[in-house]
Amino acid sequence: MKIVDKRVLVDTQDTRVTELKILSPDIARKAQPGQFVVIMAIKEGERIPLTVVDADKDKGTIIIILQELGLTTKLLGKLEIGDSLYALVGPLGHATEIKNYGFGYVKPNHGPLACGRVILVGGGVGIAEIYPVAKALKKIGNQVTTILGARNKELLILENELKDTSDQFYITTDDGSYGRKGFTTDVLDELLKQDKYAIVYAVGPIPMMKKVAAVTRGYSVKTIVSLNPIMVDGTGMCGCCRVTVAGKTQFSCVDGPEFDGHLVDWEELVKRNRVYTEQEKHICRLAI
Ligand SMILES: Cc1cc2nc3c(=O)[nH]c(=O)nc-3n(C[C@H](O)[C@H](O)[C@H](O)COP(=O)(O)OP(=O)(O)OC[C@H]3O[C@@H](n4cnc5c(N)ncnc54)[C@H](O)[C@@H]3O)c2cc1C
Ligand code: FES
Repeated sequence: MKIVDKRVLVDTQDTRVTELKILSPDIARKAQPGQFVVIMAIKEGERIPLTVVDADKDKGTIIIILQELGLTTKLLGKLEIGDSLYALVGPLGHATEIKNYGFGYVKPNHGPLACGRVILVGGGVGIAEIYPVAKALKKIGNQVTTILGARNKELLILENELKDTSDQFYITTDDGSYGRKGFTTDVLDELLKQDKYAIVYAVGPIPMMKKVAAVTRGYSVKTIVSLNPIMVDGTGMCGCCRVTVAGKTQFSCVDGPEFDGHLVDWEELVKRNRVYTEQEKHICRLAI
């Protein structure tokens, strides 16, 4: 669980986003796109979930990317190369379904398998979570369209990496400081108006994922979102990550974290994620 590399991707007055490469051969061997780890930075600390952004089976390393929001992510951001995490468990959650979304058959002498057309939408640090999915979907022959969104240019991460794995690539910023001014969903709506796509996969802030689902519903396009409820054990025992999908209770850590965006109870998710806001601020002030 030693940190073997560290890169600060974003460093602004408001926040920092840091990439850590961690030695963890067992997790590196098994991790698949869409899965996450639960981390404790220090012995007295809490457990938080973070996505496995990349894994190198040969070197036994995994990459996580974290946005500093509160106590634990700030503690993780302070770790340096050579430091070790207190605890790390994973890979957890279901892996993303990776398949060619094309028609799956080829007429004799008619060239390669029909391409599946998929759209990936990443907002904020959710961009880190769509990167492994984009790579895997591209590798098996899908035509990948990626839309990245950030509040401003400074906060945009993994632009080059995702450009390399995408056939079509769009950037939006809320303030227009880079790419197109506006939201990812503006571009999404235009693309869906013009063409047919097999699936949309979205990861980012809850309002973005909710809006993506609202847009795609109008075009009847299947939409997968990766939910971010509060998680503690990550193994289905504590009930903290309870979400309602299609009217049924699901535990995001073991039943997800990916669900059909058209069936998620978004209002409940927002409410449950706010439960500890005051305590989180208080603890962070005391500790940092
Ligand atoms: C499956 C999954 C994958 C995630 N992947 C990433 C990632 O790759 N990169 C990244 O930066 N963030 C990721 N997150 C969010 C990350 O876990 C939270 O930002 C982190 O827990 C914040 O903790 P904190 O102590 O720094 O901040 P706090 O001030 O304690 O919390 C800030 C906000 O983070 C959320 N949060 C707090 N504690 C938890 C917790 N135990 N579990 C989940 N959310 C919590 C709450 O919405 C809270 O309001 C992921 C969340 C989930 C559920
Ligand atoms: S985090 Fe405890 S049940 Fe999912």
